Amino acid sequence: MSDKKALLTNQATGKSVELPIRSGSVGPDAVDISALYKQTGMFTFDSGFVSTASCESSITYIDGNEGILRYRGYPIEQLAENSSFLEVAYLLLYGELPTAVQMATFDQNITRHTMINEALLRFFEGFHYDAHPMAMMVGVTGSLAAFYHDSLDIHDPRHREISAHRMIAKMPTIAAACYKHNMGEPIMYPRNDLGYCGNFMQMMFATPCEPYQVSPVAEKALNLLFILHADHEHNASTSTVRLAGSSGANPFACVAAGIASLWGPAHGGANEAVLDMLEEIGDVSNIDKYIAKAKDKKDPFRLMGFGHRVYKNMDPRATIIRQTAHEVLDELADSNNPLFELALRLEEIALQDEYFVEKKLYPNVDFYSGIIYRALGIPRTMFTVMFAIARTAGWVSHWMEMISDPAHRIGRPRQIYSGNALRDYVPVDRR
Ligand code: ACO
Repeated sequence: MSDKKALLTNQATGKSVELPIRSGSVGPDAVDISALYKQTGMFTFDSGFVSTASCESSITYIDGNEGILRYRGYPIEQLAENSSFLEVAYLLLYGELPTAVQMATFDQNITRHTMINEALLRFFEGFHYDAHPMAMMVGVTGSLAAFYHDSLDIHDPRHREISAHRMIAKMPTIAAACYKHNMGEPIMYPRNDLGYCGNFMQMMFATPCEPYQVSPVAEKALNLLFILHADHEHNASTSTVRLAGSSGANPFACVAAGIASLWGPAHGGANEAVLDMLEEIGDVSNIDKYIAKAKDKKDPFRLMGFGHRVYKNMDPRATIIRQTAHEVLDELADSNNPLFELALRLEEIALQDEYFVEKKLYPNVDFYSGIIYRALGIPRTMFTVMFAIARTAGWVSHWMEMISDPAHRIGRPRQIYSGNALRDYVPVDRR
C-alpha cells in the first residue's frame, strides 16, 4: 500500500478521517474505505458499483477512456491476432503464456474432460422441447456439482484446478446438447481429434448419419469471438461468480450463478437483443425513427449493442470484430447480409448523433458478435450461450484467484434502509 492518504470530512460534525489510498500497477488509485464504518459508523453508497473496487486482481486490465483491454498485460489486439482460445484460457488461469509443452499438456487435459457423465445427458429429457438454452445451461451447469465430488474441496489447489479444467472442457458439450435438444436431434459426443472450437462446431452441427467437415473459416471466427469474450474483469456475471464463491460455494454452483447473471439483456443477452432490434428496424429508412425512440426518456427502447459501463470510447473488442466481420461474412458467402449493412449504417448514424456523442455511447462487442454467429449458422437463442462458453475461462480464473487469496472474505454489501422504522403488528380484522 502507498503512503498516499485521502481526507474525508463530515461537514455536519467537523470530524475528519484519513483513508489510505491503494495503487495498482496501472490504472486509477482507489480510496480504501474498508475501515470507514468502524471509524465513523457510516457506510458509503454506490448503487451499481460505479466507483467501487471489491478486490485486487491481476487478470484483466481495462482503460475505458482509452479503449484498452489487456489480459495479464497482453493487449487484446495481439492475442486476437496470434493466439488461440485455449492458449488465452491458460493465460487467464495461470498468468503466463504457456510453453509448447505446457500448452500440449493443457490441451490434453481439457480434451480429456470434454465428455459429461452419461446420467447428465438424461437431464435434457426433462426440459421442454423449446426451453431456452440459457435456462438449460444454468440448470445443467449447477448440477455438475452432483457428479464431480472428487474435485470439490475448494481448499485443495489441485481440486480447484481440476474443477476449472472440467468447466472449460464441458461447457461446449453442455451448450451443444442444449441446441440438439431444441432441434430434436441426437446429442453428439465430443471428438478428441478436433480442436476446441472445431469440436464445438461438430457437436452442434454434425449428425450420426454422415461425416462432418469443420469449416476452417468458421473455426477461426469462433476462436476469435471466444478470445474476445474470455474475460472482462468485474462485469456483472464475473462479480456474481466471485460473490457466490466468496461464501465457499462449489465452483460449479458459482459458474451457474454467473450464467444466470449473464443472461440479462443489459449484459450477455445483448447480442441476442441486437439481432431482434435490427430485425425490428428492418430497413435503413427506419433508423431515424429508432434513434429518436432511443433518445426519448419516456420510451424504454435502447439501442442494443450501444453503450458500456466502462468504455467511454470505442470498445476495442468491437473494433476487432468490426474489422473481421467483413472478412468472415465474405468467406462464409454471407457478405450481402442485409442485417450487417443495416448495422453498419445504424452505427454510422448513431456515432454522429449528438445524444450518443455527448453520452459517449459507442458500439460494444455485442453489436457485431450476433451477426457473425448468425453467419456461422448459430441460432439467436444460442448467442448468449456462446458468450457463456468463452466467459467460463474468465469466471474460473477469477474464482481461482479469489479462493487462493488468503485475505479473501465473504462478500456482504450494506444498504441504506428506507422502509418503515418501527411499527406494531395489527391483527388481520383491524387492517
Ligand atoms: N441507448 C440509448 N441510451 C442509452 C444507451 C443505449 N444503448 N445506453 C445508455 N444510454 C443512456 C442512458 O439512458 C443514460 O442517459 P441519462 O444520463 O440521460 O439518464 C446514459 O446513457 C447512461 O446510461 P446508464 O444506463 O446509466 O449506463 P450504465 O453504465 O448503467 O449501463 C449499459 C451500461 C447497461 C451497457 C447500457 O449502456 C445499455 O443498456 N446498453 C444496451 C445494452 C447492451 O448493449 N449491453 C451490452 C453491454 S456489453 C456486454 O455485456 C458484453
